[in-house]
Amino acid sequence: MAAIQTLQMAADIQLIPFDRMKEQVEKELEIHFDGTPHFEGELLPEITYEKGFTQMGFPVPPLTDSMLFSSLAILKKHIENIRITSFEDGHYAVQAMNSNIFKTENIFDNLKIEFFSMINSRVVITKKGNLTQEEVNAAIELYKTAHSSSKGDPALKLKKLGASILSDNSALHWDYIAGYEEVKRKIRESIILPLKNRELYDTIAMMTRKNFESNRPRAILFDGAPGVGKTTAARIIAGEADIPLVYVPIESIMSKWYGQSAQNLAQIFDLCDSMGGAIIFLDEIDSLAGSRDQNMFEATRRVLSVLLRKIDGIDSSTTTITIGATNRKNDLDSALISRFDQIITFPLPNEMERGMIFSNYARHLDEEDSKILGKKSINLSGRNIKDICEFTERRWARKLLIKSMEAAPPPFEYYKRSISLWAGEA
Ligand SMILES: Nc1ncnc2c1ncn2[C@@H]1O[C@H](COP(=O)(O)OP(=O)(O)OP(=O)(O)O)[C@@H](O)[C@H]1O
Ligand SMILES: [Mg+2]
Repeated sequence: MAAIQTLQMAADIQLIPFDRMKEQVEKELEIHFDGTPHFEGELLPEITYEKGFTQMGFPVPPLTDSMLFSSLAILKKHIENIRITSFEDGHYAVQAMNSNIFKTENIFDNLKIEFFSMINSRVVITKKGNLTQEEVNAAIELYKTAHSSSKGDPALKLKKLGASILSDNSALHWDYIAGYEEVKRKIRESIILPLKNRELYDTIAMMTRKNFESNRPRAILFDGAPGVGKTTAARIIAGEADIPLVYVPIESIMSKWYGQSAQNLAQIFDLCDSMGGAIIFLDEIDSLAGSRDQNMFEATRRVLSVLLRKIDGIDSSTTTITIGATNRKNDLDSALISRFDQIITFPLPNEMERGMIFSNYARHLDEEDSKILGKKSINLSGRNIKDICEFTERRWARKLLIKSMEAAPPPFEYYKRSISLWAGEA
């Protein structure tokens, strides 16, 4: 009995005053947390003392089985006896036992660690009074482990670099783009087929070439006026291809990262390589066209040279393919243009296609009416037409509200009038 008491006292002595504990945790994690979030919502722990309880909470990357497993291992290492008190989807809780595990009184005052994963994944640590050094160490290690697991994930690394993987659920289908049969055919032939049938293409090249080299395209340029569906095509391709589509908004990478953008772009290419190949979609490469700002020019030049090098360096044994999108092809650097094996031009929609686009965004209209709208909307892009349809719906909704009318889709006349109004406004 006396021995147990002594042990208990020794443990009590180790309790760290709240302010000192907070300072220690923050100092330790500040070094670890370099200020660049590895996942959305990354923060240092929030540490509070309320109603006699210490609480420490921090967001973690989406909770995975392996993260949960390693967290349990950490807790087991630092805390002598623990019990799992909740193991439900979205809430996992671990409670420290008394040193005499058969004594359950005041057990809920002991250290408790909860993992929430319903909306945003989060860890919350609570304990009545102050923490021991061992408990503080456990908290610090939990935080570090949760965060380092996100560092190994290529998707999160890409995100950190300003790129993102377009996943299946952000993908659309070809019927989302009305018309454009020729463009769709070219995309299917030069991008989808070679990616899905690599071996056949390679076998043919092996039969024909003195020295084997791939006959699959490495780089393709999408060229066309604003709003004709270039970016939308990327989202469709993402759903069709069997490899990830890495979306790289050059414009935002250039403005956000500035001096760092060339290194970041190089890293994006390397990451795609390490994933075993990807479709790299470089959107809005117009930002690489000449700029008069001296500093920007320097940054642009560096990004361009990385891009040229990386496109040249794409290993023909991988499946990586680069797609660039621009609406100012003529302003692009000629060395860059020459890297593209093929240029796919997205024209403005013709009269019939404009009618079909109207049908996509105003499906309640009959074919004749859509045709008339198509005829009336000369020189407009798909985006313009979509905007007009949204504009019409808003005008119509206002009218329904003012006149307290039942919900119904806008009538044809409203669309017709919108085209003239919209042209006047734009
Ligand atoms: N043929 C079409 N059918 C249906 N919707 C279309 C069509 N063309 C464009 N749109 C719509 O117009 C909008 C703009 O298209 P998108 O962003 O793909 O254009 P973009 O060519 O990438 O333009 P930018 O050069 O300005 O980046 C999208 O919401 C898209 O759905
Ligand atoms: Mg676009």
